[in-house]
Parts: sequence; C-alpha cells; structure tokens
Amino acid sequence: KIVDILPVAFDLGASRRGAAGGPQAMLQAGLAAKLRQLRLPYRIQEELNAGPAAAEQAADPALAQRPRGRPPMKHLAAAVAVNEALAARVSAAAAAGRWPLILGGDHSIAIGTIAGLASHYRRLGMLWIDAHSDMNTDLTTPSGNIHGMSLAASIGLGASPLTAIGGRIGKIRPERVALVGARSLDPEEKRLIRALGVSCFTMHDIDKRGIASVMEEAVQIVGADTDGVHVSFDIDSLDPRDAPGTGTPVGGGLSSREAFLALELIAEAGVATSAEFVEVNPEADPSGCTAELAVSLIGSLLGDRIL
Ligand code: ARG
Ligand code: MN
Ligand code: MN
Ligand code: MN
Repeated sequence: KIVDILPVAFDLGASRRGAAGGPQAMLQAGLAAKLRQLRLPYRIQEELNAGPAAAEQAADPALAQRPRGRPPMKHLAAAVAVNEALAARVSAAAAAGRWPLILGGDHSIAIGTIAGLASHYRRLGMLWIDAHSDMNTDLTTPSGNIHGMSLAASIGLGASPLTAIGGRIGKIRPERVALVGARSLDPEEKRLIRALGVSCFTMHDIDKRGIASVMEEAVQIVGADTDGVHVSFDIDSLDPRDAPGTGTPVGGGLSSREAFLALELIAEAGVATSAEFVEVNPEADPSGCTAELAVSLIGSLLGDRIL
C-alpha cells in the first residue's frame, strides 16, 4: 500500500487555536522516518488550510440565528471550504488505491475525510476513538464549535452546509460506527447515541473489560458488512498525563499503553483502510511529547511491532 499523507492545518472548528500546527508537529516528530522504517511507500501532499478569505467570511445570517439559545456555528464558511477541499483529495486518494492518512487539525476535518471516503466506500465502517462523541448538531451544541459536530454531520444530522459537504447526505450509517474511549458526552449527545444505536465503548467499559476485549468487539462491529474501515483518532482519547498537547483535555482517559494496544489490535485484524489523527495541539505542549506519541501511535496502526 502507498500511504497518502494529507496534512490539514485547520483549527477554526475548536475554541482553542493551535491544532493547525498539528500536521507540521507530527512531521517534525519523524512521521516520514517512521514510514520508511516500516518500509511503507508514502507521499506527502501539500498542506490544506483555511485560507485568509474563508476565515474572514461571515456565517450565513440565517444560520447565525439559533433557536433555544444555542450559539451560532463558529467559522462555518471556513469549515465548509476546507472540508470540501479535503473531501476531493481523500476521494481521489481512495480512488487511486492509496491509503489516506489525514493529519489534523481539529476534529471538524473528519467531515471532509469521511465525505471523501464515502464516495469510494459505499458501506464504510468507522472506529471513532475519542474522549468525546462529536455528536452535537447546530440545535444541541453548547459551544458552537464545529469539531463537536463532525460525527453527527457525517451520519447526516444537523445543518445542511455541513451534512451536504461532498454531495450525498448521510455518509455513514450509525450501526457501522463504534466509539471508543468516551467520557465526556453532552446530555443530547447521549440521547442521540442511544436513539440511533451507535455502539459506544466508554472508559467505564474499558476499565471493566479491558481494552483488548473492547477492541475485539468494536472491530467486529465496524468490520461487519462493510467495504472499508476508517480510524478517526482524536488524541484527546488519551489521558492528558500522557498526551497533554490538545485543546479539550479530559481526565480519566486511555493510557498510552492502552492506546498502543488498541491500534496494534486494529493492525492485527487488518481491517483499516484509512485513518486520521486529530487535535494534536503543539501550542498546548511545549515539550512536543504529544506529537512524538502520535507518530508512534500511527506506526502501531500501520503495523509497527515490538518484536
Ligand atoms: N461536546 C463539546 C462541544 O460540542 C466538546 C467537543 C470536543 N470535540 C473535540 N473534537 N475535541 O463543544
Ligand atoms: Mn474564533
Ligand atoms: Mn473529537
Ligand atoms: Mn475529543
């Protein structure tokens, strides 16, 4: 396989700036050397970014008026622009038979990634490894931050500027999604997860059963009746003690050992057809240890072995 590295320097989907530096931080931490060590051919595409014009564009005034006191979606025009561009690139990479590896950027870029994958994989499964579920819509968001809406939008829920990215609405079916590592869910996200029947393996489940048992079931769910499996890895799934460099840290997360094992088990199962690593924020991590950890984790997903 040829790994197609797609750096996306976008952080306007989050409250805290800085995740736009994630791709360069992971590349500087030795991602290319890791791929060479694994003897995987790769290419690094030109970095996508918001662009000054898109960032300054005001959101549609109709959408800025939210009912029930919800804040407007922040930086909507910029998020739509970068995700449309990303969807086109991911679609082309998948169509060419390459293995898309998207480097974020905040988690709003999953909308473009999944839109691009969905044009190629008609029955896409997905592992969403995250402290959060990113299942808010414009009607439920407590923050207005689009990185908290990307999974809902990919399922086809929420405001049409987000759900319509890349064309077809509803890129992934809820029963083909498994969340792993959840520990910070908003009340309406919980309701939606239950109502849609999205599989959700929380930190409670991981503590009780162990990460290996949870991953075995999660991989089985996303691999059943699917033609591809995307791994959407939010670095805030890890405990902030192991990965401090992220914008919305939540305690009680995966240890680095659990995260390594989870990704090694996905690699052993041989199911993953693409991945993204998001929310690495070098501005929140002067030591750079988070980007270094992310590179090692990517290695594990791509087949790195201790022996
Ligand atoms: N649920 C919160 C919100 O909607 C936090 C989302 C955090 N998402 C993330 N990708 N880090 O704003
Ligand atoms: Mn802003
Ligand atoms: Mn997330
Ligand atoms: Mn998160």
